[in-house]
Amino acid sequence: MHEIIQQLDEKRERARKGGGERRIQAQHGKGKLSARERIDLLLDPDSFEEWDMFVEHRCHDFGMDKETIPGDGVVIGYGTVNGRLVFVFSQDFTVFGGSLSEAHAEKICKIMEQAVKVGAPVIGLNDSGGARIQEGVASLAGYADVFQRNVLASGVVPQISVIMGPCAGGAVYSPAMTDFILMVKDSSYMFVTGPDVVKTVTHESVSAEELGGAVTHSTKSGVADLAFENDVEALLQVRRLVDYLPPSNREKPPVRPTPDSPDRLESSLDTLIPDNPNKPYDMKELILKIVDEGDFFEVQPDYAKNILIGLARMEGSTVGIVANQPMVLAGCLDIDSSRKAARFVRFCDAFNIPILTLVDVPGFMPGTAQEYGGIIKHGAKLLYAFAEATVPKITLITRKAYGGAYDVMSSKHLRGDVNFAWPTAEIAVMGPKGAVEIIFRQDIGDAKKIAERTEEYRQKFANPFIAGHRGFIDDVIMPHATRKRICRSLAMLREKKLSNPWKKHGNIPL
Ligand code: HXC
Repeated sequence: MHEIIQQLDEKRERARKGGGERRIQAQHGKGKLSARERIDLLLDPDSFEEWDMFVEHRCHDFGMDKETIPGDGVVIGYGTVNGRLVFVFSQDFTVFGGSLSEAHAEKICKIMEQAVKVGAPVIGLNDSGGARIQEGVASLAGYADVFQRNVLASGVVPQISVIMGPCAGGAVYSPAMTDFILMVKDSSYMFVTGPDVVKTVTHESVSAEELGGAVTHSTKSGVADLAFENDVEALLQVRRLVDYLPPSNREKPPVRPTPDSPDRLESSLDTLIPDNPNKPYDMKELILKIVDEGDFFEVQPDYAKNILIGLARMEGSTVGIVANQPMVLAGCLDIDSSRKAARFVRFCDAFNIPILTLVDVPGFMPGTAQEYGGIIKHGAKLLYAFAEATVPKITLITRKAYGGAYDVMSSKHLRGDVNFAWPTAEIAVMGPKGAVEIIFRQDIGDAKKIAERTEEYRQKFANPFIAGHRGFIDDVIMPHATRKRICRSLAMLREKKLSNPWKKHGNIPL
């Protein structure tokens, strides 16, 4: 008996070594942690239950039958993050470059299926040279099996991808289908075709970092949600993200007790809006002042900065925040911001996270670049997402809410549950100047008349009360009481039930 136990110990020890000390040192040399070190940092101490440590590949070609490493390049299992269950796979670059074999794919699929069955998030730590070249189509089949499970799990359990090394070719499509992609600067990249192929086909010279590094994807392409300096920071932020999320679509998000009173008044908000309607102010200041303890987990902070999205808590419960940012492009909606916000709204709706929408929007961005780029379809994504969402929806108009953008930004007409405005709100078809130049075109040469007409329009429409008269705004609230009014509304909406008509699925304008 003793001997058998000792053998097991040895087998485990061999599996834990992965590709061996030399390769682990090489990994460290690149500033990267090993697959197991990453799991240790991600999960609560001593909570990891590993599965499939003894799985080996089944390839006999190219001398592979003489080269097997238990675990086959991916560590899988489950554990806890601040006491809450999560499933994890961590690709081990020290074993065949973390490349994906048939057996490696089966391991990933195993935890994905289990996560869906029990209802818990899946966190994938990606560090892989892609398809295991020696296995050919069996490896491609393995990828497709993972993709299929990503799709089936989408909207059922949260899926988080952390890119911590290479991720190229078709391999990028598994993270692409997950809810969040986090990347590590200078050590991770994602692209469909690498720099060499790009050079051959388009004659462009570009480094891997420029083509698909963390900065590129978190600022230019919008593929990544967040970029971090190193593995440690990325993993700690995954833990923070998990804290906001429900384990599955069957449950509500967790509630974390807070010393921050829901009745807290914030008098500085009474002077947040500048007197000049064309002067910007920082919408993030409003967010930080109303959420619990000023704690806001911003997603995609460096992409389409004219809209802010992220997670926070109000009275301990998670809310998703979507807010126009007047500091960037005057808070206009354009292609990138519409896509960014639409995907986030759908994520919140899928996972029972109430949505708080803060509105200061002068309209959709004009221009040929936007029209040719399909702003009609992309803007419609945001409209569709808000309109189909059945979670509690609270909207606050702080200043401008003009034209179609007023309708889109979670208006009453799109089943907003509670729609507030500050007294500084201007809810109209367009701003006073533009409106007067159209409806009083005959007076355009007469500056005095135009000024009078503009003032008349401003008095009449640049306020929240016309909408208030019709009940499109439930109340015009004091800025300093914003947190209190929103917390009460969320409490009132806690048991909200609303469902859409049965359908196989809608046809969102993709
Ligand atoms: C098998 C692989 C491998 C792969 C790397 N290795 N990639 N083994 N299949 N795809 C092995 C190497 O042989 C090496 O083994 C070890 O992993 C480390 O690789 P190095 O090249 O020494 O590391 P590095 O210099 O850091 O370069 C990493 C790399 C490079 C950029 C990822 O290895 C590389 O270009 N690999 C091939 C990438 C690729 O073309 N993959 C297929 C993409 S197509 P030893 O024994 O020396 O340690 C694809 C399609 C997916 O993935 C389709 C889904 C639908």
